[in-house]
Amino acid sequence: MNPVKLLSLAVLGAVGMPALAAEGSADAAKSKISMCIGCHGIPGYRTTFPEVYHVPKIGGQHAAYIVAALKQYKSGERDHPSMRGIAESLSEKDMADLAAYYGEKK
Ligand code: HEC
Repeated sequence: MNPVKLLSLAVLGAVGMPALAAEGSADAAKSKISMCIGCHGIPGYRTTFPEVYHVPKIGGQHAAYIVAALKQYKSGERDHPSMRGIAESLSEKDMADLAAYYGEKK
C-alpha cells in the first residue's frame, strides 16, 4: 500500500471513531438492558428504598432526553440513589446504546 493511501485511511479512522461512539446502537443495548428492566420494565412498579418512588416509563422517550437524564444522575445533578448507582457504572457508549434502544421502543 502506498504511504498516501495509508495516511488517508488513518485519518478516516480517526474521524470515524467518535462519530460511531456518539451514535447509539439499539442492538448493542440488548446485552445491557438487563440492568434496567428490573425496575423500568414493570408497569406501575415502585421502588421501596428509601421511600416509595414511582418508576417512570422510559420506553418511547426521546433518546436525547434519556442520555441527558443518565448524565445528570451520573454527575449528581439529578439525585436519586438507585439511578445514580446505575448511571455511575455506565460509559457514554452504554448510555447512547440504551437511549437508542428505549428511544425506539413504544
Ligand atoms: C433500582 C430500580 C432502577 C433500575 C435498576 C433502573 N432505574 Fe432508571 N429510574 C428508577 C427510578 C425510581 C427513577 C425515578 C428517579 C427520580 O425520581 O429521579 C428512574 C429514572 C430514570 C430515568 C429518568 C426518566 C425521566 O422521566 O426523567 C431514566 C432515563 C432512567 N431511569 C434510565 C434507566 C436505565 C437506562 C437503566 C438501566 C441501565 C435504569 N434506569 C435502571 C429506577 C431504576
